Amino acid sequence: MTKTQYYTATSLDGFIADAANSLGWLDQFEGVDGSDYEEFIEAVGALAMGSTTYQWLLDHHIRPGTPEQQPWPYSQPAWVFSSRDLPAIDGADIRFVRGDVRPVYGEMVQAAGGKNVWIVGGGDLAGQFYDHGLLDELIITIAPVTLGSGASLLPRVIASPPLLLLSATTWGKTFVRLHYQVQRPPG
Ligand SMILES: NC(=O)c1ccc[n+]([C@@H]2O[C@H](COP(=O)([O-])OP(=O)(O)OC[C@H]3O[C@@H](n4cnc5c(N)ncnc54)[C@H](OP(=O)(O)O)[C@@H]3O)[C@@H](O)[C@H]2O)c1
Repeated sequence: MTKTQYYTATSLDGFIADAANSLGWLDQFEGVDGSDYEEFIEAVGALAMGSTTYQWLLDHHIRPGTPEQQPWPYSQPAWVFSSRDLPAIDGADIRFVRGDVRPVYGEMVQAAGGKNVWIVGGGDLAGQFYDHGLLDELIITIAPVTLGSGASLLPRVIASPPLLLLSATTWGKTFVRLHYQVQRPPG
């Protein structure tokens, strides 16, 4: 059955990017053994992200028009949320959408064909799915840094019922991976 998962890395104080929208604090750990990303992405059938995350991928990973240009990294269909017209990427299955996440969720589940839906980020977009009862799990990798400010991991109050901890895994002397299930209020 399809699960909607918010899978991301965060600083210890709850930011997924620093105040300059940089991931340099995370990149420093590239090469640390133990990532489960390959296993995770294998089970993903559709993914969604907001425009800041998409722009970050364009600027730092894909770099269109430069000698270092890279292909779009996902084979799954992707939905990018923005109120603006953003540049597309040749050969990538990207659908640009805006507004209510509920109809988009329906399209994503259908496209996923029984695989999972990945909310890549940011935190408010994951929150929009949560607001409508459409977020099933959080898979959060905590890096051993604090950032003080930046893009919030999940700017929502989730306190009662609390999240249910499914597992906590350490990853070398660097990361802790917390896997939570979102619990629905009774009734
Ligand atoms: N640590 C990690 O593993 C990780 C993972 C993912 C992302 N990141 C980073 O975290 C940062 C996240 O940035 P962010 O907090 O700004 O979040 P974001 O979700 O990437 O972008 C937010 C923007 O998306 C658009 N948007 C969101 N929901 C929308 C909706 N329902 N309809 C229309 N547009 C919508 C809005 O911009 P417009 O309407 O103006 O376009 C909004 O300001 C980025 O720097 C990203 O690179 C880190």
